[in-house]
Amino acid sequence: MNLPQHGLDRQTIFATLRAYKQHDVNWRSGKLLAGVYDPGDDNAATIKEAYTEFLTENALFLNFYPSVIQLENDVTRMVINLLQGDANAVGNCTSGGTESIMLSVKAARDWARAERKITAPEMIVPITAHAAFHKAAHYLGCKIIITPVNPQTFRADVNAMQAAITPNTILLVGSAPCYAQGVIDPIGEIAALAQSHKILCHVDACVGGIHLSIMRKLGYPLPAFDFSVPGVTSISTDMHKYGYAAKNISVAMFRHDHLRKFAMFACANTASYAVLNPSVLSTRSAGPMAGAWAALMSFGEAGYADMVQRVQTCTADMIAAVNATPGLRILGQPAMSMFAIASDEINIFDLDDEMAARGWMLQPQFSTPDLPANLHAGVHWGNVAHVGAFAADLQAAVSACRAKAVTTEAAHGLKNQVLQLLQQPLSPQVFGQLLQLGGLTPGQLPTGFGRINTVLDMLPRDLVNVLLVEYMNSIYR
Ligand SMILES: Cc1ncc(COP(=O)(O)O)c(C=O)c1O
Repeated sequence: MNLPQHGLDRQTIFATLRAYKQHDVNWRSGKLLAGVYDPGDDNAATIKEAYTEFLTENALFLNFYPSVIQLENDVTRMVINLLQGDANAVGNCTSGGTESIMLSVKAARDWARAERKITAPEMIVPITAHAAFHKAAHYLGCKIIITPVNPQTFRADVNAMQAAITPNTILLVGSAPCYAQGVIDPIGEIAALAQSHKILCHVDACVGGIHLSIMRKLGYPLPAFDFSVPGVTSISTDMHKYGYAAKNISVAMFRHDHLRKFAMFACANTASYAVLNPSVLSTRSAGPMAGAWAALMSFGEAGYADMVQRVQTCTADMIAAVNATPGLRILGQPAMSMFAIASDEINIFDLDDEMAARGWMLQPQFSTPDLPANLHAGVHWGNVAHVGAFAADLQAAVSACRAKAVTTEAAHGLKNQVLQLLQQPLSPQVFGQLLQLGGLTPGQLPTGFGRINTVLDMLPRDLVNVLLVEYMNSIYR
């Protein structure tokens, strides 16, 4: 692809862009159960208009755009209030959950360095927590200590977290809920443990912050998970998930501004302008903030309550459909609208392919020492009208899996072939052969992931990480 000599006309541009989308999944089908939180076209119209209204305004240059400070403060305060923060709680908008988590870890690291003289920081993270914590640890030079979860409830094992605390521990993490199984960690116990060691506690409410807060207001029985819990020092909540705003927008919140200060960055040490950021990004379009502002303002509490109730009913119907399907089970007791399906009888990654063939997009999750491989479903407003087909499609997909080619024995055979190949250094040829074994072609997106996921799930995770990077490196050409 070369830069065209002369610019193309609008019609050609949009025809080409739409043609590019022809092989994408149809997220409007209401059958995507991962990666999309669709408020419906009518609701999205207001959000998109607000987004484009502020597309060009840049949050980096606050002196140019007081409107952007206003937007960011408004969005942050509305979310803090939902999460029961008091007048001392503060926050900022970020590009997503990962950035909010990154800032919370940076705040903890720099706070611990300044206040506790800790120079080799460690954070304790249950295995069900999102990979964003691992990324933050990787980028910020923190040691991450992974602790197990209760194998029945999949909630963080607080005794294991306690046992992992050392003089270098800066931060304990709990999720409300975890993406993996949709269960809420014992936040009260984790925060109390953090308090008793005078360290910080982050609650990852990236998926749950809005939805759970509205459930709480509606009277659903829920454990306390937000700033109402003493000892919780920071929370992340994504507006671009169950806030139903357009991507990229999350809120990183701190119990008080003394802690938030450690998340910030200033640099006046160059010959250029002084950079001052409350976020990882410098240039930030105000579009996502305006979209989130419009979502909060246009739905209001009543609008969110209506969506939450319908999504919860839809989730209950889908969970009932899973429980009514012989061979399938739900892991733990999901707190809201996210759940994970496991099986002792069929290969769960085959089920993923079979459901995809019927239009349902779920998210495969690898096994851990305490957890079987499973498929994650995140139910959102866009699914509500389509749940009817789920039960029948699920049963048909399970029947198809029972007769499917990737049996456990075949998968073990594949694993051995993979391990044998990996005796050699990972050259492009070896990598090509590996992809072939997984049913993949370098540089192409696969049509099914069942075979490759089955193999990957059997390999050591550090090796899987290397292979995934190799694969991604082959996709972007
Ligand atoms: C619980 C949780 N935390 C953090 C993240 C990371 O959010 P993002 O993809 O917006 O960076 C996710 C994303 O799915 C999540 O589910």
